Amino acid sequence: DWTMAEYRATKIAEIREQVGDAKVICGLSGGVDSSVAAILIHEAIGEQLTCVFVDHGLLRLGEREQVETMFRDHYNIPLVVVDAEERFMAGLAGETDPEKKRKFIGGEFINVFEEEANKIGGADFLAQGTLYPDVIESVSFTGGPSVTIKSHHNVGGLPERMNMKLVEPLRELFKDEVRDLGRELGLPDMFVGRHPFPGPGLAIRIPGEVTKERCDILRKADAIYLEEIRNAGLYDAIWQAFAVLLPVKTVGVMGDGRTYDSVCALRAVTSTDGMTADVYPFDGAFIGRVATRIVNEVRGINRVVYDYTSKPPGTIEWE
Ligand code: XMP
Repeated sequence: DWTMAEYRATKIAEIREQVGDAKVICGLSGGVDSSVAAILIHEAIGEQLTCVFVDHGLLRLGEREQVETMFRDHYNIPLVVVDAEERFMAGLAGETDPEKKRKFIGGEFINVFEEEANKIGGADFLAQGTLYPDVIESVSFTGGPSVTIKSHHNVGGLPERMNMKLVEPLRELFKDEVRDLGRELGLPDMFVGRHPFPGPGLAIRIPGEVTKERCDILRKADAIYLEEIRNAGLYDAIWQAFAVLLPVKTVGVMGDGRTYDSVCALRAVTSTDGMTADVYPFDGAFIGRVATRIVNEVRGINRVVYDYTSKPPGTIEWE
């Protein structure tokens, strides 16, 4: 039996022991795991740690600013923010295959990250927010069925390529324990309780070709949906909620005119680990309110539908 205060102290000692006076680089995704890992490591080794946040243009509304505020102002942790939107959009142009989109984003993320690591003269260690379920999943894959449903690319492959060792202080923890540790480290509840967000970001919520314009449309719809969820006090009861922008146009009517615009799908699920999931049963009035706001406020969307598929057979994301 241990408390999070003890875990924190033990891990800090372990990180110091492992790293010595070497340099560590950490890729922040804006999610809880990498943030908690970074804050813990910073507490252990201070300026030996460099945090890199890649803005690939596939983030949610205000996400980059939130991460910047959190690290620079709240924790006073130096943060390298890389503006990489243009190169990601250029690479995604014309691509509609889900796995190719994922592979490109994963690979390009590594390229950007490697460039930044080289700018600071390289690093001996790469910090990752790997959790216990990630460890189990990769182990069971070796003996399990050889079917890849979706390849999850974060910074996989980088340690080998750059000859770096890993620092993974969260390897023994489950998601709820990481949240406890985050609170112990002073992360605001609002940040600790954030829904998981996939590495490829909005790209896998835009079936078909990803463009900056479509990302902007989706960001607006998604922000409205989440604002309504928070206002209704439902955010913490949901594992993940997000909007998806479909590559389908339908006819609508607005005022005196005909519209011909994209369909937006809303998804919300409950889950304990993301492996299986149930649909969150909003009442119809709630969905109606969100649909009305999105169609009225977001140019480019004229129809909203709700996804009623559990996992399995559906996956949580649409790609
Ligand atoms: P699926 O869609 O496979 O998602 O049911 C299960 C959980 O994993 C997240 N997810 C990803 N996370 N890179 C990530 O880092 C990915 O490529 C990726 N694909 C799905 C998803 O958001 C959900 O929490």
